Amino acid sequence: MTTSIAETVKEILADHPGDERDSLIPILQEVQERLGFLSRESVEIVGKTLGIPASKIYGVATFYNQFRFSPQGKYHIQICRGTACHVKGSAAILDVIKRELKIETGETTRDGLFSLEVVACIGACGLAPVINIDGEFHANLTTQAIPRILDRYRRQTG
Ligand code: FES
Repeated sequence: MTTSIAETVKEILADHPGDERDSLIPILQEVQERLGFLSRESVEIVGKTLGIPASKIYGVATFYNQFRFSPQGKYHIQICRGTACHVKGSAAILDVIKRELKIETGETTRDGLFSLEVVACIGACGLAPVINIDGEFHANLTTQAIPRILDRYRRQTG
């Protein structure tokens, strides 16, 4: 028997009795870990149980870069915002990726192909600025290189 989203979220909430408002972030982390992302249904159940409006939960969750509100894409892009990458222009690279894919951080493209996450240092500072797509590092990036890289993944699928 498969467990529904509601059952999973209720199980997680049951593990956090007591002062639940303080547990909001750990609860959301656990929901994301088990279900892959924070669906509207999950957020609503958490909100109802903790007595926090869903809008407030979205506000809190979007403040932390770690939460996703849609399922991961076929290719998951992680862009490093660590110091070395930042100094070498990761913010401009992030802007180009967002523009090319028409998504924000934490979102997935409509065709389900790409999702985007900003992460802390991924331990490849010598390659800065760097992105990781499904475990594959793309090093010493320039903004001009991004469209070509994304096209390569699109072609792998087509
Ligand atoms: S700062 Fe980007 S890999 Fe370390």
